[in-house]
Amino acid sequence: MTVTIVGSQLGDEGKGGVVDLYGDAADVVARYQGGDNAGHTVVHDGEKYKLSLVPSGAVRGKIGVLGNGCVVNPETLFDEIDTLRERGLEPDVRVSERAHVILPYHRALDGIEEEEKEDLAAGTTKRGIGPTYEDKAGRRGVRVGDLLDSDTLRERLEYVVPQKKALAEEVFDKETGEAFDIDHLYETYREYGERLADEGMTVDCGTFLQNRIDAGDNVMLEGAQGTSLDIDHGVYPYVTSSNPTAGGATVGTGLGPTVIGDGEVIGIVKAYLSRVGTGPLPTELGGVEGQTPDYDAADGAGADEEALATAIRDEGGEYGTVTGRPRRVGWLDMPMLRHAARANGFTGLAVNHIDVLSGLDTVEVGHSYEFDGEEILTMPPTTEQWSRCEATFKSFDGWPDVDWTAVAEDGYEAIPENARTYLEYISDELDAPIYAVGVGPGREETVVVENPYE
Ligand code: IMP
Repeated sequence: MTVTIVGSQLGDEGKGGVVDLYGDAADVVARYQGGDNAGHTVVHDGEKYKLSLVPSGAVRGKIGVLGNGCVVNPETLFDEIDTLRERGLEPDVRVSERAHVILPYHRALDGIEEEEKEDLAAGTTKRGIGPTYEDKAGRRGVRVGDLLDSDTLRERLEYVVPQKKALAEEVFDKETGEAFDIDHLYETYREYGERLADEGMTVDCGTFLQNRIDAGDNVMLEGAQGTSLDIDHGVYPYVTSSNPTAGGATVGTGLGPTVIGDGEVIGIVKAYLSRVGTGPLPTELGGVEGQTPDYDAADGAGADEEALATAIRDEGGEYGTVTGRPRRVGWLDMPMLRHAARANGFTGLAVNHIDVLSGLDTVEVGHSYEFDGEEILTMPPTTEQWSRCEATFKSFDGWPDVDWTAVAEDGYEAIPENARTYLEYISDELDAPIYAVGVGPGREETVVVENPYE
């Protein structure tokens, strides 16, 4: 069977911990979208591993697959694999031949275009994600399978590189170097192709996964980023360029929607909100220079709100894994979560980080929005409309800081009562049961209510 893990907010919901926890029962862990914009930290046998591309399951002896919906930077991929090998692991990573390749000019253009966009900039991770998906949709991309066939690789580069060079030099008036040099790219990427072939890493993803399912294996499909960063269902244009939503799991792997729908789709919810990047955020607390629109610390939120935002940011470690940027933080946004529950069809929820909110007198939740004088319960379709929404808050009594490791051992009933009231509100509003509750950063600090593979 399959279990699909989806972020229900703006990324960084703690998906990695849940993948890690439930992944124990999985034989194969596959990513279906995104690339090295997704940072995750895996702790295994007391060792910490920071990964951005290799699926975390590969650290634990599972087969890790990068599906056709992913964009793959071979340099990052081999760096991560080599680092894992140096540390004594033997990761088994497979890459779909249909996945698209991030080339150095994609990274260069990501930076150049972000600078040009000013107010429309999404605050990207500058890993070349958007430009690579653009080329995929524009039918001028280079796929992993092309790296294995030097004639095709040469032909693709000869067509596309002069266009990219002209774009950088003539439209954006930038100097270009090796990143836009056909011969250099050809030699470097042909070698990556040879290594992929030598190590037997490439697969026809859909066939590979279906064969494993038919043989009785458990497959986990790991979404990166989150629903509100989805190119179709997120806060466009402040989004990533792929589909983190559950539908992405089918097109991004080649497994049929009925196969995914036969399994479980678990929504990962952070107990508050965090955001790396720009765009509106109706439940934001305080603000972050350079990310919060029109932010001016002097006349922005009050000192209490700023202090609360800083406390949550520090307690929750809300600094980007890939970029180190401080994340914007806010209260839970229920219209965002109702939108996610519908778009993904969650069969269960994992709510993380309830320990981070402990010790507060009250915990607020954006229950609905006031939009043009009306109460609405879900997100409006345009980001301009969303920026005009004012959150209507609902207050919950806070819960104390307790020995969360003991809570994780003792189970759901050991969670402080007020926190359970909060969890049950979320579950009722989203009409999905709570499968797990994260009460600390380690995977043993999770209250497991339901194991989807059992
Ligand atoms: P890109 O994916 O690098 O193109 O960035 C597009 C938007 O998605 C930016 O607002 C990023 O901050 C955000 N984003 C991309 N990956 C992640 C992630 O793993 N966690 C949180 N935000 C992300």
